[in-house]
Amino acid sequence: MSANRPAAVVVLAAGEGTRMKSATPKVLHAICGRSLVGHVVAASRDLSPEHLVVVVGHAREQVQAHLADVDPSVRTAVQHEQNGTGHAVRMGLEELSADGAALDGTVVVVCGDTPLLTGETLRKLSETHAAEGNAVTVLSAEVPDSTGYGRIVRDAGGAVTAIVEHKDATDSQRAIREINSGVFAFDGRLLTDALGKVRTDNSQGEEYLTDVLGILREAGHRVGAAVADDHREILGINNRVQLAQARRLLNDRLLELAMLAGVTVVDPATTWIDVSVEFEPDAVVQPGTQLLGATRVGAGAEVGPNSRLSDTVVGADAVVSFTVADGARVGDGASVGPYAYLRPGSELGPRAKAGTYVEMKNASIGEGTKVPHLSYVGDATIGEFTNIGAASVFVNYDGEAKHHTTVGSHCKTGSDNMFVAPVTIGDGAYTAAGSVITKDVPPGSLAVARGQQRNIEGWVARKRPGSAAAQAASTARQESEGER
Ligand code: UD1
Ligand code: CA
Repeated sequence: MSANRPAAVVVLAAGEGTRMKSATPKVLHAICGRSLVGHVVAASRDLSPEHLVVVVGHAREQVQAHLADVDPSVRTAVQHEQNGTGHAVRMGLEELSADGAALDGTVVVVCGDTPLLTGETLRKLSETHAAEGNAVTVLSAEVPDSTGYGRIVRDAGGAVTAIVEHKDATDSQRAIREINSGVFAFDGRLLTDALGKVRTDNSQGEEYLTDVLGILREAGHRVGAAVADDHREILGINNRVQLAQARRLLNDRLLELAMLAGVTVVDPATTWIDVSVEFEPDAVVQPGTQLLGATRVGAGAEVGPNSRLSDTVVGADAVVSFTVADGARVGDGASVGPYAYLRPGSELGPRAKAGTYVEMKNASIGEGTKVPHLSYVGDATIGEFTNIGAASVFVNYDGEAKHHTTVGSHCKTGSDNMFVAPVTIGDGAYTAAGSVITKDVPPGSLAVARGQQRNIEGWVARKRPGSAAAQAASTARQESEGER
């Protein structure tokens, strides 16, 4: 494969993408957790090119900053005016040669708006290019609707003779289904020479990269085409309808890989995952689930239905249902939801539980510890095998600063407790229901922090005479007297 290692890959990403109707530059729109240009750069990296340059123009500071973030080794070249794809490639090559890069070998050109293109297809293109000894090989595809694309024109013998842009094509050329994907492999030296000969006498007054093919052929060089196996792979994104189509296709591809690797995806149509998501075998994804960023689902774990997990690690055999989680870690065999919200820094130990209507943030709960119902656990550390009563709040904010609460192991806290941080509950301690805990509780103690109950006998009969309540109370009194 190293024999086919290209001298350079040039990614074209200077266009504005007006049809997106967006404040965000087209190539920075994202599908499956990665920008369009990020996908193209990742596929290009698969070829291990000596140089990788992205031609930027429209909103270039933004695009450059993004690229520096996703792949710091990417070079950028600036195309100040978008004078066409040929001009853009020229800018890319000038940037590289200004730096002394010898472009003797193969130069691959790809567009920044074709996120479904795979490294495998790029490799096949390079292989065909080398095997046929071509000066240029275009990646073509047979598409159901060729509107808008450059058409591949072949002679009677089937040899490629030219690429004609839709706007410049005759009616019979427009009937051609084989189109230019915008991806090429070139002989670097011949490309540089031919770009100097590209004219602008076309309907758009631009330097077309596609004209290089005809120029090289007329100069007696071999030109060829490699037909893509799957035309959907070269889908170029020009508007948000195509953006959604590409997202769907890429998502299907990612889910297919996951399923073939042993993951059960109950409903691929309503399951959305990012490229960076990882699974272990026998993970199960229930319908309506989004798995984003660096999310990882362990062996035998079940996530969903109707959940969104971002940057969250789910341990083996854990169950996470109807949950929103962001930056959380869920231990092996732990249980989350239904209706839980795990915010950044939530950590559940093995077989721990964050149950129904439970919110956690910056809190870790140990092995077997349960927070089953209606609670907020913020800025807390809870030990092992502790049970937190229903409707408890870890009162972490005094209006100015956040404070920490520590609860030990094997504690049983009552329902409707407020733990007013900073406060510490010792191992094995109990707290009474309805307590507002403001002072530390020593290990093994029972804390009771609530008003004493007082019963005012006969109050209803005196204050609400004749009411249904008074009547019911009187009947109850008579019955209990009768029993005696
Ligand atoms: C281009 C091809 C067409 C092909 C189609 C595939 C040419 C002349 N036409 O048409 O044959 O079927 O792609 O999708 O090459 N760009 C720049 N600078 C420019 C112009 C464009 O960097 O001056 C970049 C754009 O950002 C984009 C790519 O080049 O990433 C393609 O440009 P676009 O305007 O989308 O070309 P198409 O009209 O789609
Ligand atoms: Ca395009």
